[in-house]
Amino acid sequence: MTTVGIIGAGSWGTALATVLAGKGCPVRIYDVDEQHLRRMESSRENTDYLPGVALNSNISFAYSHEEALKGADVVLFSAPAQHFRSAAEAAKPYVTPDMLIVNVAKGIERGTHKRLSQIAAEFFDMNNYVVLSGPSHAEEVGRRMPTTVAVASENPEAELKIQDLFMTDRFRVYTTEDVVGVELGGALKNIIALGAGIADGMGFGDNAKAALMTRGLAEIMRLGEKLGAQRETLSGLAGVGDLIVTCTSMHSRNRRCGLLIGEGMAPEDAVREVGMVVEGMFTAEAAYELAKEAGVEMPITDAIYHVSRGEMSASEAIEMLMGREKKHEQA
Ligand SMILES: NC(=O)c1ccc[n+]([C@@H]2O[C@H](COP(=O)([O-])OP(=O)(O)OC[C@H]3O[C@@H](n4cnc5c(N)ncnc54)[C@H](O)[C@@H]3O)[C@@H](O)[C@H]2O)c1
Repeated sequence: MTTVGIIGAGSWGTALATVLAGKGCPVRIYDVDEQHLRRMESSRENTDYLPGVALNSNISFAYSHEEALKGADVVLFSAPAQHFRSAAEAAKPYVTPDMLIVNVAKGIERGTHKRLSQIAAEFFDMNNYVVLSGPSHAEEVGRRMPTTVAVASENPEAELKIQDLFMTDRFRVYTTEDVVGVELGGALKNIIALGAGIADGMGFGDNAKAALMTRGLAEIMRLGEKLGAQRETLSGLAGVGDLIVTCTSMHSRNRRCGLLIGEGMAPEDAVREVGMVVEGMFTAEAAYELAKEAGVEMPITDAIYHVSRGEMSASEAIEMLMGREKKHEQA
């Protein structure tokens, strides 16, 4: 049986632990927050981030990177994107050359504008590196509701092994070789989800949401293609699939955060209220700067970036987006 060390016991790391442990894999889970880990160990439940999902006996708890990764076949990084660099750095001494590395975080690093595989390349052999992404709320995966995701790697063998590792009758895994597309699809949709939430919070309807999703996808594709992503990937599970689930679901914390902002709450208070990582707030900044560097027009991302920094009100953003000069749809 494949032994897996998980770095990050948030909702997603825990939900994936239940998928693997349910298949009989021994799973050891580590988190920087020791008290959180101790609560999980004593209640056999992640009451902080994934309440109501029992943790089976194949899941054990590790209080150091060494304990989590000693003898493991696979290391799974499920820390938030802005913490991936420090997580990778801390885990590196215990990552052996034959260990496969899976990253499930979604985001772009602030400051450097690096995708997470570009950060990983500073620490690990990329032949072992696989990204997993797609429309997958932890709350549903933890309850064994049917879910599909995509995995991508530069190494087809590594990606096939990870496909096999995660596949169950309720968790279906597709492969693709497009690492850039899978990463950018997962990262950029969170910005649009914030926008969908803002529109809901302002009391707008389905038309506004459909507009944000469709025009949001157009700008994700513009930036994605410029950075080397394939259109097909962005039209697939890691792109459109994840965009749909994040913009429409009550589970999406990006959408929920947007909803509070749309109702008039200050952005920093909205993030605090959600209480879990709101990746879109960080990715909006990185994508805004990246788009400027790449010379790609991203009006929705621009608007959400300014709203998320409190530099523009939600109403001003709507005025700005609806008042743009007239255009061809495919321009
Ligand atoms: N929640 C989901 O449904 C879901 C689904 C797919 C992808 N993701 C992605 O997975 C990533 C994690 O999201 P989440 O929902 O699990 O977040 P979360 O807010 O539920 O939990 C994050 C956890 O990571 C821990 N952590 C922070 N820095 C760490 C570090 N350096 N090392 C180890 N642990 C660290 C925190 O203590 C916390 O327990 C995000 O990038 C998110 O976009 C989440």
